[in-house]
Amino acid sequence: MFFICRYIYKHLAILTMGSDFDDISQPKSMKGKCVFSKTAVIAYVVVTCLVIVAVGLMAGLINKDQTPVQVAPVTTTTKAPAAATTIQQLQTTDITADPTVVETTVATTTSPGPWSSIRLPPFLVPTHYVVDLKPQLEPDTDGIYRFYGKSQAVFMVNQSTNYIYIHSNKLNYTKVEVNQSGDAVPVQQWWLYEPNQYLIVELQSNMTIGSSYTLITEFHGELADDLGGLYRSTYTNAAGNPVVIATTQMQPTDARKSFPCFDEPALKATFDIFLSWKSPYFALSNTPPVVQEVTNMWPGYSTTQFNTTVKMSTYLLAFVVCDFDSVEDPVNYGVQAKIYARPAQILEGNANYSAKITPEILKYFEEYFNVSYPLAKSDQIAVPDFAAGAMENWGLVIYRETALLYNPQVNSASNQQRVAAVVAHELAHQWFGNLISPLWWDELWLNEGFASYVEYLGTNQVEPTWEMMDQFTVSDLQRALNYDGLVSSRPIVAENVNTPSDINALFDTISYSKGACIIRMINQFAGDNAFKLGLENYLKEYAYGPVDHNQLFAFWSAAIASTGGTNPAPNFATAMQSWTLQMGYPVVTMTKVGATVTVTQQRFLLDPKADKTQPPSNFGYKWTIPLWYVNQSDTTFITMEWVYPDQAFTIDGLGANDFVIGNYGGYGYYLVNYDDANWKKIISQLNNDYTKIEVKTRGQLIYDAFSLARAGQLHYNITLSTTEYLVQDFHYVPWESCLDSLAYLDQMLGRSKVYGVYSNYISKLVAPLYTNVTWNDTGSHLQQYQRINAIGASCAYGNQDCINNVNTQFSDWKTTATNSITPNLRTTVYCNAIAYGETGDWDFVWEKYKVESNSQEKAKLEYALSCTRTPWVIRRFLDYILDENGFVRKQDASSVLQDLCYNEYSRDITWDYIRQRWDYIYNVYGTGFFSFSGIISSCTSHFSTEFELQELESFKATNSDKLGSGVDTVDQSLEKTRTNIQWRADYEDTIFAWLSDNTP
Ligand code: BES
Ligand code: ZN
Repeated sequence: MFFICRYIYKHLAILTMGSDFDDISQPKSMKGKCVFSKTAVIAYVVVTCLVIVAVGLMAGLINKDQTPVQVAPVTTTTKAPAAATTIQQLQTTDITADPTVVETTVATTTSPGPWSSIRLPPFLVPTHYVVDLKPQLEPDTDGIYRFYGKSQAVFMVNQSTNYIYIHSNKLNYTKVEVNQSGDAVPVQQWWLYEPNQYLIVELQSNMTIGSSYTLITEFHGELADDLGGLYRSTYTNAAGNPVVIATTQMQPTDARKSFPCFDEPALKATFDIFLSWKSPYFALSNTPPVVQEVTNMWPGYSTTQFNTTVKMSTYLLAFVVCDFDSVEDPVNYGVQAKIYARPAQILEGNANYSAKITPEILKYFEEYFNVSYPLAKSDQIAVPDFAAGAMENWGLVIYRETALLYNPQVNSASNQQRVAAVVAHELAHQWFGNLISPLWWDELWLNEGFASYVEYLGTNQVEPTWEMMDQFTVSDLQRALNYDGLVSSRPIVAENVNTPSDINALFDTISYSKGACIIRMINQFAGDNAFKLGLENYLKEYAYGPVDHNQLFAFWSAAIASTGGTNPAPNFATAMQSWTLQMGYPVVTMTKVGATVTVTQQRFLLDPKADKTQPPSNFGYKWTIPLWYVNQSDTTFITMEWVYPDQAFTIDGLGANDFVIGNYGGYGYYLVNYDDANWKKIISQLNNDYTKIEVKTRGQLIYDAFSLARAGQLHYNITLSTTEYLVQDFHYVPWESCLDSLAYLDQMLGRSKVYGVYSNYISKLVAPLYTNVTWNDTGSHLQQYQRINAIGASCAYGNQDCINNVNTQFSDWKTTATNSITPNLRTTVYCNAIAYGETGDWDFVWEKYKVESNSQEKAKLEYALSCTRTPWVIRRFLDYILDENGFVRKQDASSVLQDLCYNEYSRDITWDYIRQRWDYIYNVYGTGFFSFSGIISSCTSHFSTEFELQELESFKATNSDKLGSGVDTVDQSLEKTRTNIQWRADYEDTIFAWLSDNTP
């Protein structure tokens, strides 16, 4: 998943990361499969006849008390369905299974009609739902887990029509009725239009404009382990027994998989939720219960009725039935905030950290937005199986365990930061996303970009020593710039977003990281007061409603004016739209001649050969740029000026020999290039006294130099020279920036003659840092992070002292059976011990992995398993990973495969294996577990030969209909491979020469 940070190889991951959420929805190619081969038509006719018989039999079999199944008119026809004029509905019954379950199989045609539009019509407006669900936590007699539901959807009619369109996916209906003010409204027929995931109800006559109607349904669906809609998750309890729970993930389009609903973010309504359970289970939902236990709503079950929700979007609903325990910090600021998790997790105190920070973060955001948290409670729960990292359901946020639980005895500083950041992110959504939601998914960045920015503010509030605001540049800024430097990127505000798969693809680096960067850039030039005032006014004006970015921009613009700030000319919205409506970013070139700097801008693309005008942009790939800069005489005095498209811009009056540095502070979403002389002056400043240059800027200088060199805009001799001063600078941010930047060289040079001098150079560069950090796990948060970088890089590039240390620590664990390796260094120690160790070491870790119950520790062991260099062990591990009933959870399979692809020694075997088993992977994991996009980008990121290019082209040709939303990723990978081939031809020799001459 895009956000699941993977330890050491994060330096590589930052280069390649795509969206891990791309594949949550059903793959495109599986949709609309109800059409129409010759065999299918014959089968259809036969089934139709059988069904008529079956329906007759059923009449006798079904208990008279059961609600009879609505039999919509069944037309038998021998014509191909495509030509039929009526929609046929078939009903079959599986009488071998639970006799109360009547399976409704609906044959649809794709006959065009008003339902052919993938977007719901604007004239049916939902106002309220009553939803009553009973998830059965044991299988039916046919071995299938199911849930049963009854629902009422109340909606207003604004245009004369006799059709009701409502979303529904994978639900089988046993009742479909319509009612107006308590009176039945005659239904002509109803059917499922699967291509658009609709239930369509045709009434005998038109509904009255301005009236309210209620759609009443009864239905059931499979409570599958598919991580979407209402699904089941399993864990082993303290007694060693499996426990099944029910939980939900609705965003973006799976609420319709739990009950029929108008499942678009702008169609907000209120909800009365009822959930049924058997003791010792209980139920949770967005609001507190009105009545904890009602009996007799479903035979044998108790039912909890929850308070009516506020007006909200369907994708924010959450339903959980579980046997968990909870904990709550005694300090709260008026909002009850409980953390729920498996009983063992609560008992071990693993929820205490999130319980403590939650009230502080809620209070901080209440003050920051100046809008109170609008609900009566704020529950958070960690479930064992979860596709994303976490989901911001209003009042009941659901997490994977690693994103909510933290145990200081066992878990690392980065595990702790992950928990704080995800909690802050999801709580930020309670305002941004929940109180106001985007009009449509194309503006998803308003949710995710915003939460991704303010998660730093929230985390900084509860952990002020973590230097969160400095970390932003090396995580989100550089990640976004890497992704957005490709021709295959996209604008923040997306175009042509229609299908669930289009929507899922938006949970990517652009919505999250670029979104966060643009919002941070605005915060920086607007100032905190105007930034906050704009947000407050916007939240208050549009609370409980849908929004788009123009409304936000209007409030920010007004706020900047009212606080005395200066808006960019000609206006704020136009200036900012140059960042949100066109893809990519500029490189700002500052050329200094004497006392004058000439500033120009040009679109930046990593591929030097790419056409800089394509695809066309309404803004012509020019931006309105807030340029922060300093000059040498006083690097503490920062100037900000606007650079406009197509307007000459110069800075005068500088000292003739001074250097100038642009994007000072790293707040701008652009690169900066200089004339060679200016670069050389900056580099000598770094070598002589780097403290004169602010730390984020030091990181950006290195990052920019590597990007520019890769694109052919700066000589590698200059780029590589920016790293030399790191023998003195031990700060995490510039080092992280350097290691992330070097990851590209590492991949390109891994199998070239240059690798010897390259790894020698890095070993020498990192040696002073390695000595400085020592193996004692002390110091500030970022010093702890830096120690991991230093030890990780030293061991990876063959420092023998490092390898010896790792081996000693690992064998102590094996021989004493006590793990005294400090949690911060476990990932590094485990991984290197496996990499440099024997098969027995791998087996030792595998045995630990199988029984480990702490999720973060388990993730470290899992990662270590992917560090092996032994071919047959790799091959055996691959089988273990794809064993559906094995020890690797489905939710993790994709990321372990990606880890194997980042390992130089395992990537070929892994890629071969994945290609051989692509059909299997696609079928078994295709509906939400697998990031096809992540797999393809990770496993091809090092491709840099003609042969690899051909291989990838043939992979694309063979699997064109089985790529899920990895389709775009294959094209991106092809683009990258071509550039990589060229890069190697152009630069290997230069880099070889520089490294040979300059290794200390
Ligand atoms: N809204 C998302 C979860 C989500 C992602 C739902 C994709 C459906 C599809 C949530 O707010 C989120 O962004 N979670 C992140 C964590 C965050 C700290 C970046 C995640 O899941 O990793
Ligand atoms: Zn989010």
